[in-house]
Amino acid sequence: MIAAKPLTVPHEGRQDFPAVLSAVALRKTYGSVVALDEANIDIRRREILAIVGDNGAGKSTLIRLLSGLEQPDSGVIYRNGSRVEFSGVSEANDAGVVSMFQNAEACSQMDIADNIYMGHELMRGPFVDKKKMLRETETLLNHLGSKLTANRLVRGLSEGERQTLGFARALFLDPEVLLLDEPTSSLSVIQTSEVLNQLLSLRDSGKSVIMVSHSLPDVFAVSDRICVMRHGRVRAMLETRETTYERVIGYMAGAPLEMGL
Ligand SMILES: Nc1ncnc2c1ncn2[C@@H]1O[C@H](COP(=O)(O)OP(=O)(O)OP(=O)(O)O)[C@@H](O)[C@H]1O
Ligand SMILES: [Mg+2]
Repeated sequence: MIAAKPLTVPHEGRQDFPAVLSAVALRKTYGSVVALDEANIDIRRREILAIVGDNGAGKSTLIRLLSGLEQPDSGVIYRNGSRVEFSGVSEANDAGVVSMFQNAEACSQMDIADNIYMGHELMRGPFVDKKKMLRETETLLNHLGSKLTANRLVRGLSEGERQTLGFARALFLDPEVLLLDEPTSSLSVIQTSEVLNQLLSLRDSGKSVIMVSHSLPDVFAVSDRICVMRHGRVRAMLETRETTYERVIGYMAGAPLEMGL
């Protein structure tokens, strides 16, 4: 699998930062299914936090709650230490919290540039400056290692290309906290590497990234900490440098905890 650039930035001082986003005792049920059961999590400034866990562990549910897409049954979310209740994704966006999947739901009749700039169109006098939007979109796509052209209609895009568009759109919103649910699942080897490098750059510029992933090589390549979820709970919170594949897989499978949260 992918080996992204090695971690380049020393992490000293990272612990001194307060959590930029945290959740305390988040619970979410769907009918009789308890998707999230008193989950606690925090993400610090300047870190990539990977979330791993078996299918159905509650990872996507957690991301949906943190991103404002859905609301918890109970529990509290804090942004920079203040309690927040995101009633929708745009409220979360306004607070600097952007998730990728919501943006991946693109308008298929529109081209890539229009999708990226939706709601933030560049104007030249009274007119939309389409040329500039196309140019800037192309730059952003190149930056992501994508060969897509900005005027391609979304309708014809492959799953991987849509994923790239979603990522580009999320970056365009300039998030303080970026929430990604399987951001590379449909990407090629090369593009996966580009996306992972983008995450490292974001982290190095002081941003925070939560990345749900089934790819342990990707997780170990870029994350600072690993949150292991199981049966709707945060099972372990591990420093990536201090743990191993075997331990992570063990916690995913329900091995007893050796370390506290
Ligand atoms: N909208 C929904 N309606 C009913 N059940 C749901 C819904 N969303 C999630 N669930 C259930 O909640 C539990 C957690 O689901 P979730 O999608 O959060 O898991 P996940 O860790 O993201 O899994 P995966 O790795 O397969 O993506 C599962 O049992 C799932 O079936
Ligand atoms: Mg999921």
